Amino acid sequence: MINHFKLKTYPFLKDIPANKLQLSKSQETAVTSMARILETKEIGLLIGESGTGKSVVLETISKKLPKGQFKVMHLSDPQGSARYIWRHLVRQLGIDLPGPDAFRELHRQLVLFHKEAGRQPFLLIDEAHHLRPETIEQLRLLTNVTLDNLCPLILLMAGQPELSGYLQNPSYEAFNQRVGVRYRLLPMEEQETYKYIDFHLQIAGAKDPIFTDEAKQHIFGCTRGIPRKVNQLCLAALNQALQSDKDKIDAEVIAETTQELSES
Ligand SMILES: Nc1ncnc2c1ncn2[C@@H]1O[C@H](COP(=O)(O)OP(=O)(O)OP(=O)(O)O)[C@@H](O)[C@H]1O
Ligand SMILES: [Mg+2]
Repeated sequence: MINHFKLKTYPFLKDIPANKLQLSKSQETAVTSMARILETKEIGLLIGESGTGKSVVLETISKKLPKGQFKVMHLSDPQGSARYIWRHLVRQLGIDLPGPDAFRELHRQLVLFHKEAGRQPFLLIDEAHHLRPETIEQLRLLTNVTLDNLCPLILLMAGQPELSGYLQNPSYEAFNQRVGVRYRLLPMEEQETYKYIDFHLQIAGAKDPIFTDEAKQHIFGCTRGIPRKVNQLCLAALNQALQSDKDKIDAEVIAETTQELSES
């Protein structure tokens, strides 16, 4: 494919380094809104459909933090028990063998870290719709300020739309009261989707346009501007054109590709 389309690397791959990304408008807004919790020390909640770029936003925020002020911790697979999660986080603070009460140990270490290293612990939780109820309740406790006015943990959670539904339950009232910033990540708009396609091709080394305007319109129609879906459809279309020895992706190639994808 690389030779056929005169590229340098494969386009539409999922591992573009964060410093090379061009964020969509909604992703930019998510980054700037969520940054407010670093000042207010409230909980941030980022909601978005699968593939809209929540993980990209979290990574961007994490990379943009001023050096030396925060101790950044990540939880990208929060499916386990609360105890498993506390132990995992304690380890990120450099403690290999937490005591039997991992939650208290974590709380103690967060406060110590803040006081002694002078860095504010900041936890980014991805896939937060997988958190268990007891974990959510205890996470809230970790964000409570201490008597000496320290916030043990600033918390930013990203998850799929079911997370907001789930948090509507009155049992999460106390948690919800601590959520200072909520943002719903939207898919890309039509023009952004076109620029996104061009951008991916440009970083793959394309010199000439490969997708026609009509093809791009169809791609937007089929994917509704969801970046992961755009990547999948564009990559499949390139393969389809390669098989038919075409050097342009036009509306016909997109129609054939979507037909193939729906049959597979
Ligand atoms: N601004 C962007 N520039 C380039 N690629 C992007 C951009 N936004 C998203 N992507 C790509 O789109 C795909 C989906 O993004 P991401 O994984 O962040 O979505 P998500 O909302 O976390 O999805 P899920 O809910 O399934 O975890 C990834 O392959 C990512 O690299
Ligand atoms: Mg994700």
